[in-house]
Amino acid sequence: MAQSINCQKVKGTIDFYGELSSKKRYVENKAREICKKYNMEEIITPTFENTEVFSRSSGDGSDIVNKEMYTFLDKSERSITLRPEGTAGVVRSFLENKLYVNPGLKKYYYCGPMFRFERPQAGRFREFSQFGVEFFGEDNYLLDASVIALGDKILKSYGLSGKYRICVNTIGDFKSRQVYQVALKEYFSKYIDSLCDDCKRRLEKNPMRILDCKVDKESEVLKNAPKIKDYLTDESKEYFKNLQEALAYLGCDYYVDDNLVRGLDYYTDTVFEYIACNDDSENSINGMAICAGGKYAELVSKFGGPDISGIGFAFGVERVTNLMDKFGLFDDNVKTKVDFVLIGLDKVAKLFTIKLANEIRDLGYVCELDYKNTSFKSQFKLVDRVNAKNILIFGEEEIKNNLVTVKNNENGEQKSVKLDDFLESIKK
Ligand code: HAM
Repeated sequence: MAQSINCQKVKGTIDFYGELSSKKRYVENKAREICKKYNMEEIITPTFENTEVFSRSSGDGSDIVNKEMYTFLDKSERSITLRPEGTAGVVRSFLENKLYVNPGLKKYYYCGPMFRFERPQAGRFREFSQFGVEFFGEDNYLLDASVIALGDKILKSYGLSGKYRICVNTIGDFKSRQVYQVALKEYFSKYIDSLCDDCKRRLEKNPMRILDCKVDKESEVLKNAPKIKDYLTDESKEYFKNLQEALAYLGCDYYVDDNLVRGLDYYTDTVFEYIACNDDSENSINGMAICAGGKYAELVSKFGGPDISGIGFAFGVERVTNLMDKFGLFDDNVKTKVDFVLIGLDKVAKLFTIKLANEIRDLGYVCELDYKNTSFKSQFKLVDRVNAKNILIFGEEEIKNNLVTVKNNENGEQKSVKLDDFLESIKK
């Protein structure tokens, strides 16, 4: 006997079907609609890139690059990586396609699967979807504030007000970070024995990454480490102050977390996260970021491009869906409502209903029919199953006289009307 195929999905992945896929699309489409109002363009980049697109942008001191990438050699021995995040690919595409040649701010949104080899748990998957935005062309605190406010607007559009907190910080400009890195190195060198093995390695390469360590995060050594705010240049201080004033003016309810550094190396100045809160249910994602981003003034030039600043964020579609589910925010908007079930009571009527259903669908209605049965009783089971609003019944009599029997399944009313009149009425 042939051995059966393993039907279990890979750990950390999700099958989306039924309401779950509708919820995912609802979340994605709502964000799309909002981005279109900002005159943003959709950018669709490949799901895999040459490995260095990520290793040289996210930073080879980051967990994402060191531990979480799905990297493999393809059949031509090229090192390929399934994208762990969207920004690097968008920047690569921005440069390769010279999207910077026309003047003005460039605004993109994207949505698609990302891959990270992380330990699966509530809200953390190995394949997940991000909806992200990237703005290129202006190094300006007003733009930073607007982008943070856009994330807030999208999350609020799901009814999530009060279910997350916006936390912002600055990691300063290049000069600020240079001095800060020295101070961190000096500080952590004193406590090297208490650091995890990864942090010992980070101390040499990029001491700021220690602040983002998942293992050492609760240790006193980390909590008492020097703070970037004490090493900011006057320009960086001024920029952050202006940003906060703009955020307050725009009505963004934010707080400053001077421990926030983010897990990717490409950020400069502004960083921010939207942290889930007030969710005390089982499998809670409380404390996790549902959305996060920052400014990257040097990333485009690091790729060899012109000196163009960027800023963006991405939210985890599954995390947003999870939070909306917890607070019962989906209601009926994700269930497809069937407007009509067409019932044909003999072979001729059956064929007729198939054609008519297509015409009614063209008018914008959702139609269902049973292709197999001709008895009323069997076909009525479908009406129940899909909870249809109306039933259209066709027997010999209706076909011969160009009539339809319409039954309103919600109030039970039934009437026989001319088919043309009925079609005219639903067109309206
Ligand atoms: P990130 O913080 O690595 O940033 O990810 C952004 C969001 O993706 C997180 O806040 C979270 O909601 C979701 N996410 C991350 N990892 C997982 C996972 N394993 N399972 C489920 N959801 C996850 C970035 O990726 C940056 N590219 C954001 C950005 C855009 N910065 C500037 N522009």
